[in-house]
Amino acid sequence: MTGSLEPAERVQAVGPSGIRRFFEIAEERDDVISLGVGEPDFSAPWAARDAAIQSLERGKTSYTANRGMYDLREAISRYVGDRFGLEYGPDEEILVTAGASEAVDLAFRAFVDPGDTVAVAQPAYISYGPGVTFAGGEVLPVRTREEDDFRLTVEALETAGAETADLLVLCYPNNPTGAVMSRADLEPIAAFAREHDLAVLSDEIYAELTYDERDTAADASPGTATHASIATLPGMRERTIVCNGFSKAHAMTGLRLGYALGPGGAINAMNRVHQYGMLSAPTTAQYAALEALDSCGDDVEAMVDQYNRRRRFVISRFREIGMPCFEAKGAFYVFPEVPDGWDGIANEFAERLLRERGVAVVPGDVFGVGGEGHLRVSYATGLEELREALARIESFVDQHV
Ligand SMILES: Cc1ncc(COP(=O)(O)O)c(C=O)c1O
Repeated sequence: MTGSLEPAERVQAVGPSGIRRFFEIAEERDDVISLGVGEPDFSAPWAARDAAIQSLERGKTSYTANRGMYDLREAISRYVGDRFGLEYGPDEEILVTAGASEAVDLAFRAFVDPGDTVAVAQPAYISYGPGVTFAGGEVLPVRTREEDDFRLTVEALETAGAETADLLVLCYPNNPTGAVMSRADLEPIAAFAREHDLAVLSDEIYAELTYDERDTAADASPGTATHASIATLPGMRERTIVCNGFSKAHAMTGLRLGYALGPGGAINAMNRVHQYGMLSAPTTAQYAALEALDSCGDDVEAMVDQYNRRRRFVISRFREIGMPCFEAKGAFYVFPEVPDGWDGIANEFAERLLRERGVAVVPGDVFGVGGEGHLRVSYATGLEELREALARIESFVDQHV
C-alpha cells in the first residue's frame, strides 16, 4: 500500500459485478419489469417480523454469543435434521452468520491459503470467484453443461483438472440455472472428493425451493424435503461445510441471517474469523429467525407453491416463444437460451430487451463458463408481471429474430 489508498492487488483483480450495469440502465426508466434480481417478492412472514419487533420492544439490542443465540442454534439443529437429514449439534457445529454470504466468505478465509485452488462448478453465483480472490486463492472453473441439465459430473471435474484442487464449491439448487442434484447425482461427486481429498463448500441456500416432490415425489433423500445435501453421503460430513440462511425461502434478505454447518474443528476456525470481523450476527434478525423456524413452515410452503406455479408458467412460455429452456427444478430462476436465429450474443440480447421493451434479465456469461448464450430470468415476481414480461419478450423476439 502507498499513502494514496491504492487498493490492494487482490481487490483490483476483481471487476465490478456484471449485473450492476443492467441495474443502472433499468434505473433510467420507470416502466421496467425486473426479472433480474435474486430476491423474493414476498415480505418475511408476519410472525417472524413480529418477533423482531417484540425483541426490540424488550430491549434486545446487545450482541449475542459470537456463534449466535443458543436457542437459535438448537432450532437450526432440529430444522436441518428434520428437513434434510443433516445432523449438527448446537454447541460446536453451527455458526450463525450475517447472511449465507458471510458464511461463504468465512469458509474461504478460514480454509483457503494463498495460492490454493478452489474449483467452482459453473455457471455459479457471482460472489464465489471474488470471495476466493479476496482470500488469495485461485478459481478453477468447472463447466457444467445443459446436456446434463447443468448438473455437475465427474467428467466435468476431470476435464477441468479438479483433482488437484483444495476445495470444491457446489451450489444446488443452483443460482443461476435452477439445476438440482439428486442423491444419486451427488454420489459420484462425493466419491471424487473422497478419492482426491477435496474439501467441499456446499451452498444450500435454495434447499427449500426444490420442486420435484411437488410434481413427482421421485427423489429419495433423507429427511422430509426432496433436497439432498452432499454432507449426508458417506464420508462427506467431515470434509463439508454447508451454508444456508433465511434470505430465500423465508423471504428475509434484508434481515441478513444465515448459518454454516460443519465438523466442530472447522466451525471453530470459521468462528475465529467471525468473532473478530463480525462479533455476532444481527440480534433482531436472530429473534426473527428463531420464530421463522418455530412457526413459519406454512408460510414457506405457501411461497414455494407460488414459485412452483410461476416456474411452470415461465418455462412453458419460453418454449412457446422459441427460446429453449431446460426444466429448472429448484431456486427461483430459469436459464433459457437466446432464440435460434438471434445472431448476437446474450449480452446484447439482454441490453436491447431492456432498452426496447423494458424487461431486465441477466446475461448468462456473468455467471462464468457454461453461461454463454443464456439468460438468467428470476421468477420471484408476481404472475401478472411475469405474464406481461413474457408478452414483451415474445414481441421482442418476433421483431428481431
Ligand atoms: C447461491 C447464493 N448464495 C448466497 C446468497 C446470499 O444470501 P444471503 O442473503 O443469505 O447472504 C445468494 C443470494 O442471491 C445466492 O444466490
